[in-house]
Amino acid sequence: MHPHLLPQFRAAPRSISVIAPVNTPSPVITIDGPAASGKSSVARLVAERLGYTYVNTGNMYRAMTWAVLDAGIDPASDPASVATFSASAPIDCTVTDGQTTITIAGHLLTAEELNSDPVNRAVSHVASVLEVRNALVAAQRALQAIGPLVMEGRDIGSVVFPESPFKYYIDASEEVRSARRRAQGHADQVAERDRIDSTRKASPLIIPDGATVIDNSHLTLDQAVESVLTSLKSQGLPTP
Ligand code: DC
Repeated sequence: MHPHLLPQFRAAPRSISVIAPVNTPSPVITIDGPAASGKSSVARLVAERLGYTYVNTGNMYRAMTWAVLDAGIDPASDPASVATFSASAPIDCTVTDGQTTITIAGHLLTAEELNSDPVNRAVSHVASVLEVRNALVAAQRALQAIGPLVMEGRDIGSVVFPESPFKYYIDASEEVRSARRRAQGHADQVAERDRIDSTRKASPLIIPDGATVIDNSHLTLDQAVESVLTSLKSQGLPTP
C-alpha cells in the first residue's frame, strides 16, 4: 500500500460545455435497489441508449473492500481500522468514454476481484463505515462535472443526488435475486447483504422520495430498460 497517497477520484476531463450550458448541472438518472435486482444491467443499457456515462457505485465500495482485505483488516470486527484506512486508501476512479475503471495503488481491479467471494462477504461491513461513505459520496458527486450520468447504487436518489427528478428503484423478489447470483456462479448471501445495507445507520437502502419503483422479478432486460426510458420520456427527458 502507499499510505502517502491521498484518495484520488479522477474524472477524466470531458468538455462539459458541449453537453450542457455552463451553470446547468447535467442530469443524473439515479437507480437504486437491493443486491442482484438487475439494476446494473438496466442502468448500463439505459446509459448506452441515452449516450450517458454509466457509474456503478457498488464497484467503488467493492474496490475499497478489496483494498481493506488486502491490508489484512477484518471489516466485520474492526470498523475503526476501516475508517482509518479509508482516509489514505490510494483508490483512483477514472471515467473515460463512458467507462469507469478503478485502480488501487495503480493495480487495475478486475471484475473477478471486485466480485470475489471474500469481497461479497465483507462489502456491506465496509459500506457501513461513515468515513468510507463520506469519501465515496464526494467522489460520486464530483463525477457530475463530466456530463450526464446514470448512477446506480443504494443511496444515489436518497443521499448522493436527492434533487434529481429522475429516480428509480429496481426491486425483485429474494428468490429471483438469489437465483440470479447462483446463475452467475457467485456465492453471494444477498439476503444477509440486504439486511446489513437496509439497517445500517449511515445512508441505509431505502426507496428514495419521489422514486419510480420497478418490480423486475418477471421482466426481461429489454422490458425493464423500456420502462425506465418510457418514464424518462414522460418526464420530458429527450430519449431516443
Ligand atoms: O451494487 P453492489 O451489490 O455491487 O454493491 C455492493 C455493496 O456496496 C452493497 O452490498 C452495499 C454497498 N453499496 C452502498 O452501500 N452504497 C452504494 N451506493 C452502492 C453500494
